[in-house]
Amino acid sequence: MNGLRFATVLKRWYTNNFRDLPWRRTRDPYAIWVSEIMLQQTRVETVIPYYERFLARFPDVAALARASEADVLSAWSGLGYYSRARNLQRAACQIAKAGSFPRDFESILALPGIGAYTAAAVASIAFGEPRAAVDGNVLRVLSRIGNDSSDIGSQASKAAFQSQADALLDRKDPATFNQAMMELGATVCLPRAPRCLLCPVSAFCEARKEGTENQLPIKLRRAAMDEVEMTVAIVENAGRILMWKRESRGMMAGFWELPEAGLLPTLKRLRAAGAFMHTIMNRRYRVQVIAGRLAKAPARFQWIAMEALPTMPVSTIARKALAKCTS
Ligand code: ADE
Repeated sequence: MNGLRFATVLKRWYTNNFRDLPWRRTRDPYAIWVSEIMLQQTRVETVIPYYERFLARFPDVAALARASEADVLSAWSGLGYYSRARNLQRAACQIAKAGSFPRDFESILALPGIGAYTAAAVASIAFGEPRAAVDGNVLRVLSRIGNDSSDIGSQASKAAFQSQADALLDRKDPATFNQAMMELGATVCLPRAPRCLLCPVSAFCEARKEGTENQLPIKLRRAAMDEVEMTVAIVENAGRILMWKRESRGMMAGFWELPEAGLLPTLKRLRAAGAFMHTIMNRRYRVQVIAGRLAKAPARFQWIAMEALPTMPVSTIARKALAKCTS
């Protein structure tokens, strides 16, 4: 394939079609880094308001380094994968101590919570370093362009796709090339029903020629979902809600939760308030919400004023459950 021609056609398409996303209006490495961490496991539409609020609250590395962990978690609350927020702050402390933002791929990669994809995205977009950023979207594009049926989940094929992307990369404008590849994956080369008729690089696509685009990419080993049933209780007393705080280590550390009804033997059940589903990694929770009353709360629970909840790190399950009672 003519890599130069591919990059030229792709860039022209991107320049005319890119979505005007807030992190595309800046070259500030801090802002780009925050956006890339948020976008790792979360959709663009969900990220936009979080990104804007996060930057308003923590406008630079120094502000994030100074913040309390509870404040950072509260700004992240609802995005999931909270280790991302903790690592972001740990990294901000390291950068603040070092005195300036690291400017090359290797030093960015050395920060907590930053993998090859994110380091390449920040190094290329903020500093123009010629390094292809290969995420799930880009792996899909590459597997189709090359009609390559190797497993995109395996480390060996990831390394091969990385080399292929580095070879295709426009070394004069890696920022635009990387964003264009992501954009192509996100808006045209979709997982199901790719929009080949709108694709600027369909003439380069071997899968399109062979009619295999709907079978690619190949991803083996899918972890099965665990189904978990739970019932949480909303116990209110004079504008305060009964809650408990998770330990400072482990999953969702430091987050506030509602009590599970089974842990309150003296709970007087008032009514069913609703039900919802929530998925965290490979666990699918089916949550029933009940409203109840309690004369005396067991020791590990605390009464939390309802007005305080919006600025506290409250788990998404607890937030969704509270919304059933207050909406
Ligand atoms: N997904 C990951 N990084 C992205 C970016 N910079 N723009 C849009 N979607 C993305």
